[in-house]
Amino acid sequence: MIARNILETRFKEVFGKNPDLIVKSPGRINIIGEHTDYNEGFVLPAAIDKAIYVAVGKREDNLINLYAEDFKAHYAIALKGIAPTELSWPNYILGVVQQIKDKELSLSGFDLYIDGDIPVGAGLSSSAAVECATGYALNELYGLSLHRVEIAKMGQLAEHTYAGVMCGIMDQFASVLSKAGHVIRLDCRDLSYTYVPLDLGDHELVLLNTNVKHALASSAYNDRRHACEHAVSLVQAKYPEVKSLRDVNLSQLDELVKPVSPAAYLKARFVLEENERLNKACEALQTGDITALGEQLFLAHEGLSKDYEVSCAELDYLVEQAKQFEQVKGARMMGGGFGGCTINIVEKGFGNQLVDALSKGYRSRFDLELTAIFVAIDNGTEVVY
Ligand code: GLA
Repeated sequence: MIARNILETRFKEVFGKNPDLIVKSPGRINIIGEHTDYNEGFVLPAAIDKAIYVAVGKREDNLINLYAEDFKAHYAIALKGIAPTELSWPNYILGVVQQIKDKELSLSGFDLYIDGDIPVGAGLSSSAAVECATGYALNELYGLSLHRVEIAKMGQLAEHTYAGVMCGIMDQFASVLSKAGHVIRLDCRDLSYTYVPLDLGDHELVLLNTNVKHALASSAYNDRRHACEHAVSLVQAKYPEVKSLRDVNLSQLDELVKPVSPAAYLKARFVLEENERLNKACEALQTGDITALGEQLFLAHEGLSKDYEVSCAELDYLVEQAKQFEQVKGARMMGGGFGGCTINIVEKGFGNQLVDALSKGYRSRFDLELTAIFVAIDNGTEVVY
């Protein structure tokens, strides 16, 4: 949590005046349902109590004037000339401005100060939080009347066009629409959703941060998406009514994809299985059967690692080690993959012990620090000032 007066003071130091508005948009976790969003499947994310904050103020001219506290860096560009930059951080903001321009909504120049407490590179979707904080703040500042779902969609498109990652809707949706104490069971085909209480009884969530983000993660992400689309196109040749993997069953994959592209087959089969696991996980959550819920997480990790191939040695190690403890009911890599965190469901109070137990081995194996992140489930985007 970053206090409002700190944000106000820093805005004033950087831009010489008070902000008109401060908005907070959170990072997210996902219980289960990975790489299903861009395949029109289901996800089960929730916002966390770590967020991006943007303080904004209107300007008289048409300059977009940005300052990022993390990098102690300025970036300025004329509203009419915006385009993706070599620097990565301004792109998440400019991409959203582009979306607003594309909708032919009117805005002027503005000053924007950005800070946050989401660990970067941990797979907690800090970039989605930047997009959503920006979209929400500009919506308020200029009275654009955009609905929350629209703000999430604009964040997703900003990521596609300005960051080059063809992501699904999960991260932005969770950032904008979450509700404290609940996970969102989101159907990514039509964006219908329900809030499911996240009641883990005598258990807690702990994230174990590998502290690695392997290179090429975004191109590998786009490759996975293409593999799924390829599988769909192979099925469509015989079943033209099929639009996405959501419409496909295993026998169609066996018949039409397996013989032609064994690689795409494994990816597509994973997606079908992951949707089933999510349904089982929701049932387990509703009946309070945390062991059954955790089992689905372990199975999801197997699939993500062996079939979908988005894990890495560090993530596999942490899940394998965590599994050895009976107090750990479930563990898996979380998010896009190739680094970031594992999510673990453990007996209450065991989180710290787990980190202590794994840290030494992790350090000697990978020469990296293992850090724990404890999270509470929070509300989505809101105005804090
Ligand atoms: C990243 C993307 C999401 C989703 C996950 C994997 O976080 O931004 O859209 O695809 O990976 O589930």
